[in-house]
Amino acid sequence: MRAGRFVGFLRAAFLVVVLTLAAAPGAPVSAQEPRTAPDYSARVLGSDASATVAGLRGKVVLLNAFATWCAPCRAEMPDFEAVYRRLRDRGLEIVGVNVDEGEADEKVLRFVEKLGIGFPVWRDPANRFSKRFRALGVPETVLIGRDGTILRHWNGPMDPGAAENLAAIEAALGTGGAETAEPGRDDLAATLLRGRRLAEQRGCLACHATDGGNGAGPAWTGLRGREVTLDDGRRVTRDSAYLARAIRDPDADIVAGYEKGVMAGAMPGRSLTDEEVAALVVYLESR
Ligand code: HEC
Repeated sequence: MRAGRFVGFLRAAFLVVVLTLAAAPGAPVSAQEPRTAPDYSARVLGSDASATVAGLRGKVVLLNAFATWCAPCRAEMPDFEAVYRRLRDRGLEIVGVNVDEGEADEKVLRFVEKLGIGFPVWRDPANRFSKRFRALGVPETVLIGRDGTILRHWNGPMDPGAAENLAAIEAALGTGGAETAEPGRDDLAATLLRGRRLAEQRGCLACHATDGGNGAGPAWTGLRGREVTLDDGRRVTRDSAYLARAIRDPDADIVAGYEKGVMAGAMPGRSLTDEEVAALVVYLESR
């Protein structure tokens, strides 16, 4: 690890600790001074084109500074994606500002692809972002209104799906454009977000990786409609009914190569409602 990066990492780690001690996670800690977003431009990931914040005037913008080596950044990105899918039709633009040093486009592209990120990503290897926006480290997130005013600034992790943060984003969006949003699509996105949050709250992600990595249970990538072999030799298709059953009654079907009872034994507490199971299935199928 290069020295600069290591310092950056320490800073990020320090921030996480401070935030955890000082405030609820994701709480804004900076002064809420209203000011116009500074001139800021960066290169679009994987291209030579440059993009500017000024060019996004008229939209509500969430700028999220991140680095591939920053675990809290990685953790919050799927939530940004879910919020993006839910609110982009109402005029929300989310831009990931990647500050990995040097020529890291390939690496960043892989990172973005693995996490299934659909919003634009800009590259800022010199981290001019931190000067322009008086940022301390990564992750940092800035909410910019349609008129270019900085509305909020979060140092450290920020859960965009948390009620308070979502309310700030909704308030910035206002009602303008709401009538043009497709309600069906909005509902689907809300369900997706709910499924993602449940997976986190119910500890599913402790055993199921969503980025193709290994865990105690099968990875949640590309499950939808794909066949699976069970420990009794049957081959079944992972349709919605199969997935719902696998969640509701983990020991009903056991995926070949895995132990019976592992998942069942790890699911204490209130059992999931039908609606929760459905939301989890929607989320699983989106991976
Ligand atoms: C302690 C680890 C653990 C936890 C926590 C856990 N699972 Fe699992 N899960 C497993 C294991 C092991 C399997 C494979 C054995 C089986 O089929 O039951 C599995 C299988 C599954 C399958 C079938 C996967 C496939 O490839 O067909 C689904 C769907 C699933 N889990 C969903 C969930 C959901 C949703 C949660 C959270 C509410 C959750 N799991 C929590 C360990 C876990």
